[in-house]
Amino acid sequence: MKIAIIGTGYVGLVTGACFAELKHRVVCVDNDASKVRALKMFKVPFYEPGLEEMVRRHARNGRLSFSTQISSAVKNSDVIFIAVGTPPKENGEADLTGIESVVRAIATSMHSYRLIVEKSTVPVDTGRRVQHTIETNKAKNVPFDVASNPEFLREGQAIHDFLHPDRIVIGVESARAEKILRQLYADIPAPLIVTDIKSAELIKHASNSFLALKISYINAVARVCEAAGADVERVAEGMGLDGRIGRTFLDAGIGFGGFCLPKDLDAFVGISQKLGYDFGLLKEAKKINESQKELFVRKIENRLWNIKNKTIAVCGLSFKPNTDDMRFAPSVDIIALLQQLGARIRACDPQATKKAKGLLKDVVFCRDVYEAARGSDCLIIVTEWNEFKEMDLKRIKKLLKQPIIIDGRNIFDPALLEAMGFSYVCIGRTSK
Ligand code: UGA
Repeated sequence: MKIAIIGTGYVGLVTGACFAELKHRVVCVDNDASKVRALKMFKVPFYEPGLEEMVRRHARNGRLSFSTQISSAVKNSDVIFIAVGTPPKENGEADLTGIESVVRAIATSMHSYRLIVEKSTVPVDTGRRVQHTIETNKAKNVPFDVASNPEFLREGQAIHDFLHPDRIVIGVESARAEKILRQLYADIPAPLIVTDIKSAELIKHASNSFLALKISYINAVARVCEAAGADVERVAEGMGLDGRIGRTFLDAGIGFGGFCLPKDLDAFVGISQKLGYDFGLLKEAKKINESQKELFVRKIENRLWNIKNKTIAVCGLSFKPNTDDMRFAPSVDIIALLQQLGARIRACDPQATKKAKGLLKDVVFCRDVYEAARGSDCLIIVTEWNEFKEMDLKRIKKLLKQPIIIDGRNIFDPALLEAMGFSYVCIGRTSK
């Protein structure tokens, strides 16, 4: 099939490359000419394992191309996916101006039937507005359908998530749209949920908010564990074996970050509010998440006594491993809080340093964990990269001024670290 993807951000580019992998012909459109120029030279503007290679392969075999022109992409495609950004406004609501202008451009370029699919995460009822905008801007007698097909990929494993999803959700209002979307995904062996557009839109917000809720729940349990002298890792293991609960997203730590969970949680609270429901449960999840970072800084302060003029080695800046994404990364707030208390920061990250340099002030960026640890008063784990899990702890102990590790991601075994002579502080697990 011939597909146009409007927007070459995370979701758009991964979707485009993966549809090319499924042997469709794809044109990815973006109004940022420099981005399109770079993509034509196979340069992906963010780090995602395997993506650059996939883009290069399909651009070379002709299945994937890039353009700044919505009109020609619409003319030459059967299906048009909208994957432009829906960033949060001041009040937490999604900014849909990008979607609206793209929809107008699509409408004025259509000359025969087109299926327009929302891929971006949008509030419930956006489909109806998209439909109305197309109806009022297109030429007479041009048939079309609107559909919703939310994306559930995680950064860092986006290609795997796209090609091997737990489920594919399609919200449609015509048999023709359903048939086209079924055909598009025919080679992916995953359960396909067919529903109305509003329910499909809601599935995305309800899913991300539930994941956020699950993380805040385990972080709250971690506090009880600490107070009681229990171990949150064992509690999560014991809970997770119950098939109704599941072990994933029960890792206690410094809270969730990134561009999706915090934004979608806020948006879902706002959407519910507008519809007349006060989603207090989600508000509490957000509160727990915010305080998780302050709690971590208090742990550091407790251990170091005074933070002023102490040097802290920060391991990890990206919001999670295998990405260079710094958007809503807990590291940003944690470093700001430590700097307010007078700390000097030496930070390292396997991928995010370049992006972090534009965001963080007065930070010494180090090549690796060993350079960061040299002469520091303690080392803190903020992102659980494999590089940190595998660090040479004997070497680290020699490099640090004091053998103190404060771990916001529970990557080490407390008994082992204590046996090595470290003072080890983590989340929801009390040291012996
Ligand atoms: C999230 C969802 O997992 C995807 O399904 C969804 O498609 C995506 O948002 C989106 O809406 O586009 P992502 O933001 O890439 O994906 O990252 P996650 O893997 O969900 O992690 C989010 C945050 O939660 C990270 O900061 C991570 O460190 C934290 N987390 C995750 C925990 O603190 N504990 C856990 O047990 C799991």
